[in-house]
Amino acid sequence: MPHLFDPLALRSVTLPNRVGVSPMCEYSSEDGFANDWHLVHLGSRAVGGAGLVMVEATAVEARGRITPRDLGLWKDTHVELLTGIARFVEGHGAVPGIQLAHAGRKGSTSVPWEGGTGIDPARGGWEPIAPSALAFSERYIPPRAMSPDDIGEVVRAFAAATRRAVAAGFRVIELHFAHGYLVHEFLSPLSNGRDDGYGGGFEQRIRLALEVTRAVRAGWPDRLPLLARLSCTDWVDGGWTVDESVELARRLAAEGVDLVDCSSGGLVPYAKIEAVPGYQVPFARRVRAESGVRTAAVGLISTPARADAVVREGDADMVMLARAMLRDPYWPLHAAAELGHPDARRIPVQYLRAF
Ligand SMILES: Cc1cc2nc3c(=O)[nH]c(=O)nc-3n(C[C@H](O)[C@H](O)[C@H](O)COP(=O)(O)O)c2cc1C
Repeated sequence: MPHLFDPLALRSVTLPNRVGVSPMCEYSSEDGFANDWHLVHLGSRAVGGAGLVMVEATAVEARGRITPRDLGLWKDTHVELLTGIARFVEGHGAVPGIQLAHAGRKGSTSVPWEGGTGIDPARGGWEPIAPSALAFSERYIPPRAMSPDDIGEVVRAFAAATRRAVAAGFRVIELHFAHGYLVHEFLSPLSNGRDDGYGGGFEQRIRLALEVTRAVRAGWPDRLPLLARLSCTDWVDGGWTVDESVELARRLAAEGVDLVDCSSGGLVPYAKIEAVPGYQVPFARRVRAESGVRTAAVGLISTPARADAVVREGDADMVMLARAMLRDPYWPLHAAAELGHPDARRIPVQYLRAF
C-alpha cells in the first residue's frame, strides 16, 4: 500500500503527494473576482507542500453563489486573476485545482461572520433556484422550482466555467455535488419533489449530476483528471444513502470522473451528525471498495498519523484537509518529517535555513 507522501497519478497529472487542500470558501470576492487574498491564501498552501491545492467552491452562475462575496467563473473576465493563482501554485510544485459549484437553495445568504442567513433581493440578494420550492430553513430565502430551461442553463454554465478553468491553467476540476447545494438537492429525495424526469427514482434524481458531468468532461481535456465531491449520506432517514453514493460513483466513473471525494451532510439543518475524528473515512472506504473508483477522505483528519493511516490502510487514495490547513499552511512539510519522509518535502529555497 502507498503512504501519504507517495505520488498519485490521475490521467496525465501526478500529485506529488496525497495531501490535498480541501476547497474552502473565503467569501472575499467582489463580483466573483479573485484577488490578492486568494493568491496569498492558496499560494501559501502550495509553498507549504500540499500535493493538490483546490480553489474554493467557485460559482458557475451569479445566482449560484452562496453569498454575494463568493468566487465565480461565470464570465470571461474572471479568468485573468485565477490564471496568476494557478501559475503560482503550479510553480511551487503543487497541482492547481478548482471546485465548480452552484449553491441552489442555499444561495443568497450573508457571509458566515455576518450571520449566514438569507438576504432578500431588495437588499442585494437574489431568488435562489432549486429542484423544488422548498427552503433549506426558515432563515433562508425560499427558492423557485427550476424550469427545464433553468436546468439547461445550469448545465451550460458548468460547461462554460470548464472552458474558463482550462484557460486559467487549472489541472484538476472538482464538481461540487455535496453539502446540500444544487446538484445534491437533486440527488436527495428530501429536497427533490419533481416528477418531470429529474426527480422521483434514483435514475431521475442522478440525471442532473450525470448531465453536468458529461458537459464538463466534454470541455475538459482528456489528459486532465475530473473529481466529484459527494455527500455520501444525508444522515437522515429517507434521505440520500451510502448505497446510492456507491452506485452514483460507478455511474460518474463511466462518465469520466477519476476520483470521488467523500464528504457528507449539509442537505437539511436538522441532521444529527456525530462528527468524531475521521468520521467520514468509512464512506471513502466503502465507495472505493464497492465501486472500484478512487476516493479521497475528508473530515476531521488532522494528525499526520491519521492521514497516513487512511492511505496505508486503503481507506482512500488521498486525504483532503481543510481546517488543519488553516491552522498550519505548512502542515505537509511538518507531516513529511514526522512520518519519516523528510526527502518528500518541497522546501522553498528561500526557506531552507529554517528546515
Ligand atoms: C472555512 C471553510 C470553508 C469551506 N468551504 C468549502 C467549499 O468551498 N467547498 C466544499 O466542498 N467544502 C467546503 N468546506 C468543507 C471542507 O472542505 C471540509 O470538507 C470540512 O471542513 C471537513 O474537513 P476538515 O475537518 O479538515 O475541516 C469548507 C470548510 C471550511 C472550514
